[in-house]
Order: sequence, then structure tokens, then C-alpha cells
Amino acid sequence: MEPLNNESIEFLLNHPKTGQVTSDVNIETIERRSFSPKKIKIFSSSHTNIKACPEYKFTGDKEAQRLLPDIIHNTVQRIIAGDGKNETASEAFKVCRNIGVFFSGGPAPGGHNVIAGLYDEIKKYNPESKLFGFLSGPDGLLESKYVEITQSLVDAYRNMGGFSMIKTGRTKIDTEHKMERCLKTCMDLGLDSLVVIGGDDSNTNAAFLAQKFNSTGIKVIGVPKTIDGDIQVKTDAKEILCAVSFGFHTAARAFSQNISNLATDASSDIKYWHICKVMGRVASHLTLECAFQTHANISFIGEELADYTDYQRIEKAKKEGTIDYTAYGMTLRHLSRLICDIIVRRAAIGKNFGVMILPEGILEFINEIQVFIIKLNTIIAEYNHIHDIDFHTSFPTLTAKLEYLRRLTRGMKDKEKFSIWNLRDDDLFNQLPSFFQDGLLIERDTHGNFQFSQVKTENIIMDMVKEYLSILKEQGQYKVGIERSYYRSIMENSKFIPDKFATVLFVNPDDKYLLIKEAIISMKTLKQELINAELITLDDNVPEPIALIFKKSEPQFKTQTHFYGYDGRGSDPTYFDCNYTYNLGVTAFHLTANGATGQMAAIRNLEKKFDKWEPIGVPIAKLMHIEERKGKLELVIEKSLVDLDSNAFKIFKALREDWLAADVKKDRYRRPGPVRFTGSAEEDRPITLLLNSI
Ligand code: FBP
Repeated sequence: MEPLNNESIEFLLNHPKTGQVTSDVNIETIERRSFSPKKIKIFSSSHTNIKACPEYKFTGDKEAQRLLPDIIHNTVQRIIAGDGKNETASEAFKVCRNIGVFFSGGPAPGGHNVIAGLYDEIKKYNPESKLFGFLSGPDGLLESKYVEITQSLVDAYRNMGGFSMIKTGRTKIDTEHKMERCLKTCMDLGLDSLVVIGGDDSNTNAAFLAQKFNSTGIKVIGVPKTIDGDIQVKTDAKEILCAVSFGFHTAARAFSQNISNLATDASSDIKYWHICKVMGRVASHLTLECAFQTHANISFIGEELADYTDYQRIEKAKKEGTIDYTAYGMTLRHLSRLICDIIVRRAAIGKNFGVMILPEGILEFINEIQVFIIKLNTIIAEYNHIHDIDFHTSFPTLTAKLEYLRRLTRGMKDKEKFSIWNLRDDDLFNQLPSFFQDGLLIERDTHGNFQFSQVKTENIIMDMVKEYLSILKEQGQYKVGIERSYYRSIMENSKFIPDKFATVLFVNPDDKYLLIKEAIISMKTLKQELINAELITLDDNVPEPIALIFKKSEPQFKTQTHFYGYDGRGSDPTYFDCNYTYNLGVTAFHLTANGATGQMAAIRNLEKKFDKWEPIGVPIAKLMHIEERKGKLELVIEKSLVDLDSNAFKIFKALREDWLAADVKKDRYRRPGPVRFTGSAEEDRPITLLLNSI
């Protein structure tokens, strides 16, 4: 054996410094695990009570009354401190309970703290009580796969991101058989209650489970999770009961840090437009928050695009005595024109770079694409209804799927032109690039949601942008503005009189950024212009400094595309989410301990100082409405979209021209910095939340 010397691998591996710096557990992890979130004050009382608050009203849906009769009459419940002298109530709180919990849907930072809060509270009242974690989401409940959550397991995941402790899944509990299996698992474990940590679809599951379990006494409580931020609860009178789901703040901050880094890079290297697609299946809440966090040059809010009306088209059609239905809502083509306009404006003042944020769900708000999504949804649902084999199994490849669609139109008579898939649809669909056709035909998730995360939306939009920009370039409308002082120094250094050439070369010779005339689009046209102005003769070459200026004015449109989604979902939670989620877990316990079921744990006043936070229970059944899913109408929780009348959106609209910075001033990029878990800065919570509370 070779002796250990300080170059051998054994020596290096055994060195204490190697062990220290290559350990799986680093200092940040140790500090995170030992961080104690704050706890709402009333939870330090010997027990709590719940107070019904019927003053908070919701319209509710008729179908919810029919399908969820036992929980539809629930009201909002406020958790209040119990009377410490009431020993019977305090004792009742200490009964031994078994509680089950599972994650459902996509991960969201803070989920582990919900479990930590729940666990600590269960054990505080009775160390014999048990918490069971069902593995891999609803499947764990269906298949009775679980672990008992122990102190050491909880401690390993405190304040840590992801759902890795017990994993997650997206299975929908949608049949009587599945309900029965869930009930059996809960009964076998002697569960007192079940806590479902999930988004809109998972809380829908929770409501149906609460209805099913009602007669057995097993209670079901939901916890509002999703980075998308689309679970928000407002009463009919617009009182805000749940302003934001957990995980939203962290994901937005994580995305924003990356986007802000790109802004720094873009403004240093001045050659790229960074196109950042940001998650959010439908709603653009994350994009709006990232816009405030970073001041990116352009951010599109899907909800605004859907609201778009082209008044010029309407007027034109009116004059022709017709109605132009395409004037309502945004088309892909129009969107690409808007983007080009912005790029051209920035280039004109020398900024042929920038940062753009596109929401993942943008296509949901683009007219013609939405029509395709609905039509294809219906066709696939009809196919599945009639045939034994599922559409995607029958037609596994894109070619097979397209052939099926073509068959639908083949031999179509005139009277059939209004059928679900007609020749015009087929024509338009065939004009789309195949990666996009593939995306639109992708299988829906188990809840019937379109899987936007798997469609390269940014590519289809940017391809159209590139195409139109090259037309604008040919027309001489897309040019890089040249700083006048630079032009002058280049000319003077070569002994040319700048003013003599400026009026011939530029449309705006007196401005700070000079734009080459539209007619000058090549060295040839440049030379011709100089000859016409008698500044050179036919035999002369274009003078070198002028050729250099012209070259600099010719734009290259270079992009880098980025997708921010899974990374932010897996981020460790912010200070805000650490505290929020821990208290959601504690709230879930107090709701069940007080006998509540069919309720979603929530915290009011999140925008205020921590001592104003108020734990409540929100009736899930009252949040539901009827929605089309996989071609069928279903009762689900209504997603909250960006409200175009909200303060946040109005402020965004007022500031976006500033952030676009298509002017001589510097870009206004903001640096949110990294996700933190300590600190008490007022700002350390979603900016949109703060603005909406003004
Ligand atoms: P939830 O609604 O379950 O929280 O998931 C949100 C989300 O992250 C969306 O933003 C995204 O479109 C989707 O999940 C991606 O789903 P998947 O994990 O199946 O790729």
C-alpha cells in the first residue's frame, strides 16, 4: 500500500476540511432547521374555541348545495382563545387523536412547516397523539401507504422547501370506489381527522371527502397551497379572508432573483433579450409579483390580454356595416406586434437588449388558442366517451392525432361547417409548428387541466416576433439608436464634420440618440444617400467612420429563453412563508380539535404586522362553482385570476412605461436579492399583497 502523503486521495478524503465542506448538510440547512417560526398569540392559550361568523357571506353554487349538503351550510369560523378557567374544555383538548395528512398537487415552499405546525400542536396537547403522513399524495390515502411522522422526521424538514418528506401526487379522488377506499384507510387508522394540503383541485377533493366522511365523525380540513397564488378568498362584500396561498411569495422571490440577475447581465453585455416564462398554470399572479420585484422591461398579464378590445377594427367594421368579432381579445399575431413595438422603441434609444416576463398560462387568454384548447378538449372527451381505449393511447403519435382530426373534416358537407372541428380549424391548426400542435394535443392532467408547463409558449411567440422584426428591419423601422456624442467623436477623430453628414444620415440629428433614416437599410442605400447629397462621388467608398456608425445601427435580435417554475417550487421558503405555513398547520389542528370539517385553514391580515394575523376556517363548499373539465361540467373551487381593478394591477399599469425605460434614462431594474428566512423587513412579503391592501 502506498503511504499516505498529502497528495493521495485517501489523505484528501480523510481531511476534516473535506468532510466539512462536502457534507450533505451545510450551515444554511442547519440554521434553517433550527429556526423557530413565530406563533400567533392565541395559540398559546390552554385551548381555543371557534366562533361562527355568518356575517361573511358567499353566493355559493346550486350544484354545491346538491352535492355537498352536509358542509354547504358551514360559515366562516374564527379561532379564539379559550377560557383558561374552563378546565373541562382544556381537558377535552388533550384527548389522544390520530390525524392524517397528505400533500396534493405541485410542491410549494413551506409545506413541511404546515406539517411541523400540525405536529407540534398535536404533541403539545397530547404526546400520545399521532400524525400519519400519506405517501405520494392522494395515492397514499387510496392505497393505505403512510408513515408515522416522528419528531426526528419533522426536525429534518423544518423550514425546508419541497414536499420531499412524504412526497406528493395529483391523483383525483373522483369515484365512489376511491372515496370508499379513502374512508377505509382512515377508519383502519382510527383517524380523528384528515388534513389535505393542496391547491384548488385538492381542496375540491377535501370538500368531497368531508361530505363523504361526515357521518363517520372523521373531519377533513384543507390548507391553501399553490405557488400560482390563485387560491384567494373574498366574500360577496369583498372582505379578504385569504389573500394568498402559501408558496407564492417564495416562488416569486426565487424567480425574481434569477430574473434580476439576468437584468444585470443584459444591461452589462447589452446584446440579449432574456425571455423569461414564469409558472402559473392560468392566472398571472406570479408574473405580476415578479414584475414588481424586478422591474423587468416588459411583463405581460394574461388577464389583461383577454380584456383587450381593438377599437380601430370595431370602427372599421362599423363603417363597412359589419361586426368584427376578432376585435375582441388578443390574437397571437397582435401580441407579437406589441412585443416588436416595444423592442423597436428600446432599440431606438440604443437599448437593443432587455428582460421580458411571459406568464406560463398566457395562451389561456389568447382568443384563437383558447378556442383550439376547448375544441380539442371536447373532441378528446367525446372520443373517450364512445371508445374503450383512451384517445392518447389510440393515437400515440402526433401524426396519428392529426390524421384523426383530418378524418373528422373529410367529406364534410357545407351544412356541417359549424361542427366542432371544421375545415377552417384543420387549416389553421396545420399552420402551427408541430411542437406547438403537439403541446395543444397533450394529455390533460387528472383534474382535466391543460398542462401549460409542457408547451413551449415562449418559442411560438418569439418565433413570430423574430419574423416580424426582420420585416421591420427590412423596412428600416427597426434600428439601434446611436448616441450623438459617440457619433460626433467617431466623426471628429477621423476629421469629418459631424453636422455636415448628420442631416443626411439621421431622421433626428438633434436628439441624444440618432436614428438612421428608414431608407438607409444597406451599405448600397447608404452610399446612394451620400451620393445624392453630394457628400461623396460614385467612385468613392462610404467613409470608414460612417460605415462603422451604420453597422452599429443595424440590430441583431438575439434572445435567451428561460423557464422559471420547478426551481421556485423547490426553493426553501422565505421568512414570510416559514411563518405563514407554520401557523396554517397550527390553525388546521385547532379547527379539527374544535370539530370543524369541510373548512380550509386560512390566516387573515397577512399584509399586516404579525400580531394582527388572525387564524380562521373558510367554508370550502361556498368557494365552488361549475367549470368545464375534460369536456364535462364539474364542481370545483374557482381559481382567482388577476383582478384588473386591483391596486396592484393599476399601479403596475401606471409604472410599466417607466420600467420599459424606452428613454434616455437608465433602466430601473430592481434587485430583490436572495430568498431569506430571517429578518423582519416590512417588505418581506408579496409586494402585490401590500399594494392591494392600501
Ligand atoms: P398546483 O396548482 O398543484 O399548485 O401546481 C401549480 C403548478 O406549479 C403550475 O404553476 C404548473 O403549471 C403546474 O403546477 C405544473 O404541473 P406539473 O408538476 O404536473 O408539471
